Amino acid sequence: MLRIHVNTSSEYNVLLERGLLSTIDRYIDHDARKLCIVSDETVASLYGGKEHALYQALEKAGFQVFTYTFPAGEASKNIQTVTDLLQFLTGMQFTRKDRLIALGGGVTGDITGFTASIYMRGIGYYQIPTTLLAAVDSSIGGKTGVNLEAGKNLAGTFWQPKGVFFDPEVLQTLDQTQLLNGMAEIIKMGFICDKSLLYDAVHGGRNQHGPVIFQDADALMRLVAKAIQDKLSIVEQDERESGARALLNYGHTLGHAIEKCSGYQVPHGFAVATGMYYTARACDKVEWTNRPCADITEQTLRFFGYPLDCPYAAWQLAEAATNDKKSDGVNITLSVPEDLGKCVLRPLPAEQLVLFFECGLEMNNDDH
Ligand code: GLY
Repeated sequence: MLRIHVNTSSEYNVLLERGLLSTIDRYIDHDARKLCIVSDETVASLYGGKEHALYQALEKAGFQVFTYTFPAGEASKNIQTVTDLLQFLTGMQFTRKDRLIALGGGVTGDITGFTASIYMRGIGYYQIPTTLLAAVDSSIGGKTGVNLEAGKNLAGTFWQPKGVFFDPEVLQTLDQTQLLNGMAEIIKMGFICDKSLLYDAVHGGRNQHGPVIFQDADALMRLVAKAIQDKLSIVEQDERESGARALLNYGHTLGHAIEKCSGYQVPHGFAVATGMYYTARACDKVEWTNRPCADITEQTLRFFGYPLDCPYAAWQLAEAATNDKKSDGVNITLSVPEDLGKCVLRPLPAEQLVLFFECGLEMNNDDH
């Protein structure tokens, strides 16, 4: 059994343990009487129902357990879902002592965390991520929120969970695209501040089934734990993203623009991978890097099979990026590589973003 406690100076523990869903009651605040497991319909049918280990363990421990489900997908991440959930909680007479449990991916975690942060001015919640992406990124750090018509995540709060619990057994129900979505954020942490992560991720090589790290659950969990620890150490310095936390946006300014230009057809991790690659190319070109970073970035990402295609023009991407929360209207703060395993923040006048993107993409055209 692999069991990893991730050390954090924040108030909550992050626990990675095989079989955790059936022993979860040990880690839930016993002052709570009622618990609401919030999940989308897909995850509910896999792990969140009355017939599943999580529900049964909680009920057996004496909690009154409720389930709340909504249709799977980004389209549910809106204020109406939050309103419906708030109404459900009032209907079931949840008090401040009671707790929500976000069981699922990033959409579920963000909706549940946001609802928890405003219900009765804030109640506690737990994160139980069921995707690799949610385990290494969205469940960690207390960002919550929903999308507005004007853009993604434009309404939200910072509200830290009471605990994050990841059971690696859930990886068995993930396909390769979902694994790659999470791996992009792990690799991102490596490029930002921890090159040992990059080494660990590629160390086992590839075989006919793909990257060996995806076939070695224990090695993957150690990698996940390291990536979480790295993220927490940045979040602890700057919970509300007034400084260092913006480093976590490496690859995201361009990545979000790619997602938007594709009508959200490109999966998040693939867009971030592509964003990191072209950002590294641009940084090499404008000599922001102490030594070239684009080649090693490309090799690492291609090892995992990210296509790294960017069929959009720099102006389209810049336009898509202007609504981004990382822009203050005058400057956009970019997280950029300075060296392998070290990113820094650089403000760029918003009107120069198009030139910056061109630097990354131009080299692309030179290749052909
Ligand atoms: N996903 C970036 C952050 O949590 O700040």
